[in-house]
Amino acid sequence: MSSEEVNLKRRRFLIAATTVVGGVGAAFAAVPFISSMQPSQRARAMGAPVEADISKLEPGQMIRVKWRGKPVWIVERTPEMLEDLPGLTGELRDPESLESEQPDYARNEYRSIKPEILVCIGICTHLGCSPTYRPDVAPADLGADWKGGFFCPCHGSTFDMAGRVYKSVPAPLNLPVPPHRYLSDSQILVGEDEGVA
Ligand code: FES
Repeated sequence: MSSEEVNLKRRRFLIAATTVVGGVGAAFAAVPFISSMQPSQRARAMGAPVEADISKLEPGQMIRVKWRGKPVWIVERTPEMLEDLPGLTGELRDPESLESEQPDYARNEYRSIKPEILVCIGICTHLGCSPTYRPDVAPADLGADWKGGFFCPCHGSTFDMAGRVYKSVPAPLNLPVPPHRYLSDSQILVGEDEGVA
């Protein structure tokens, strides 16, 4: 075979290989497009409720789900975390959640249906950053009085383990609690409650 023939064969091979790669790329690119057409996804984007499985949630742990494009945090509070909440009242801006956003069934000292399970929207009420979950007690950066909660790294707002904002930080309100209800002990429906048809 002459070197010209070899070059020609090689070029054909390269063209064929490129075509196959192009085909695979097109197939992958089509997946998000197709799935974006599925009714369940459209419904979710419109604000359909989202189910959260909390069967594997351990005390002190958090899981995240997305509802209406927002992060929703579900935290199982430990008995110690619950015990600390009443003692923080004097340090909080809206301890009784009079100005903050939550359904009536979450306007209580725990801001929740079941004391141990907190459900809240993980968006800082100052300028919308995402706070960090800081369940550690008395860490060096947050001080000896820190009982666990949420810290917003953007401008330093702090929230307790019920999502209640501390005084003297930029955030004006507690973290909102979305409507939700229990489908069973291990399933929470976020985005819908008994009051929603
Ligand atoms: S956005 Fe959280 S403190 Fe400013």
